[in-house]
Amino acid sequence: MEIRFADTRPSGEFALVLPVAGTARSSLDSLGSAKSAIEGALKRNRFEGESGGVSEHFVDDDGGRRLLVIGTGDDATKGEGPEKLGGTAVARLLTSGETGAVIDLSGLKYDADAAARVALGAALRSWRYDRYRTKLKDKQKPTLTSVTITGAGKDAEQRYASRYAAVVEGVSLTRELVTEPPNIIYPDTFVERVQQSIKGSGLEVQVLGRDDMAKLGMGALLGVAQGSVREPKLLVLKWNGGKQGDAPVAFIGKGVTFDTGGISIKPAQNMEAMKWDMGGAGAVVGAMKALAGRKAKANVVGVCGLVENMPDGNAQRPGDVVTTMSGQTVEVINTDAEGRLVLCDAITWTQQKFKPRAIVDLATLTGAMVITLGHEYAGIFANDEILAAALLKAAEVSGDKLWRQPLAEPYDRLIDSQIADMKNVGPREAGSITAAQFLKRYIDDGVAWAHLDIAGMAWSDKAKPTYDKGATGYGVRLLDQYIADTAEG
Ligand code: BES
Ligand code: MN
Ligand code: ZN
Repeated sequence: MEIRFADTRPSGEFALVLPVAGTARSSLDSLGSAKSAIEGALKRNRFEGESGGVSEHFVDDDGGRRLLVIGTGDDATKGEGPEKLGGTAVARLLTSGETGAVIDLSGLKYDADAAARVALGAALRSWRYDRYRTKLKDKQKPTLTSVTITGAGKDAEQRYASRYAAVVEGVSLTRELVTEPPNIIYPDTFVERVQQSIKGSGLEVQVLGRDDMAKLGMGALLGVAQGSVREPKLLVLKWNGGKQGDAPVAFIGKGVTFDTGGISIKPAQNMEAMKWDMGGAGAVVGAMKALAGRKAKANVVGVCGLVENMPDGNAQRPGDVVTTMSGQTVEVINTDAEGRLVLCDAITWTQQKFKPRAIVDLATLTGAMVITLGHEYAGIFANDEILAAALLKAAEVSGDKLWRQPLAEPYDRLIDSQIADMKNVGPREAGSITAAQFLKRYIDDGVAWAHLDIAGMAWSDKAKPTYDKGATGYGVRLLDQYIADTAEG
């Protein structure tokens, strides 16, 4: 969808969106003589300008125009207010028959960033993936092709172009990869799709295959891949936008393109959801695309561990002991706790290869995380207060929310093994913490590290202001914001 900024409303057909901040109704002044009738209608609709509230009208303007009055609540600029406004408008208009929308912000005191974020919300909410819907009726198809923002400060357009347009591209790539079915996206095709998508972006790409990883001794990652006919891949994207020689920040993503559980097979119910078990890797590549797209002044590497977890005659068994690239050995108690086995080798390799100054890993790692935090916050586990604080702040600003979780020695003891250095699962309780403790055993001394368990966030069964049901693109805005605040700050 096209995003435009303009000083005045265009002529011709469009739906007009007027935001109303709580009880302040000055943004309706532009309706002229129609204002009092609309105010009466708002009252009958029991519309009170509450955040996310929508009241739809038709006004006698240019032969009839659809008018959406959208509430922003009393604090229109706080939190995700601006994105929510743009997203709410688009959600309502996307398949309405309207082809254009004008969001007039002149009634709100938005600075350039807030106005640009209205556009960001609009663009994010317009994303759909209809590739396999061959029988969509015309009425079900999107009609809205452009959103024009008027009444914004003159710097809003520049702000959108230099920052958020790239974020939209990144989120869209993540959502596409997460949405694609597992017969289409597997390690090989994940790499191909990303390479297509980032052509000309300036990102450097490196891909490791099974033989490369075997030479490096990645026994844990390869153990997971062993039951699949799909070759595992390690995908590396490098963005060198910072000072030459500055140690990079590393983002590492869990990319299990389908998680059956392996020999510890999952129940059939909802197993199809495990196509998005590559949501961490999806977020990493989306963030890298966003950073490259806006030419971020930072050195960043993105590493994705891509495997398919399948049961097979050759699959790894519960009880197997594998040797990780770090030299530490792991007793595989449960083949369904595969994410940590993929990540540990990706972490070791990334540390050896790039000597990063910080590592942030993202993974749909545990069902336990969903039980803890539901679908509102991802969990953050960190060994470094400065990194944790920076990520929590970026979460607040970006809307990709995080809540801190504990790490502590007694949890670590729960994964000690009789036969190897550790086992890949602890007891049922504290399942997301023991998973994080497992990863921590692979972090070198002195490396700042944060693990984000995004199991509850990569996919949504409900539509929200900035996304429809399905892939959310969680993590892209968070990582982009983190880099903007720190490496570039
Ligand atoms: N990919 C799953 C975690 C998951 C579950 C993500 C539900 C999103 C929604 C992970 O690989 C897994 O299977 N974890 C197990 C760990 C257990 C065997 C210790 C789990 O959470 O049940
Ligand atoms: Mn699993
Ligand atoms: Zn998994």
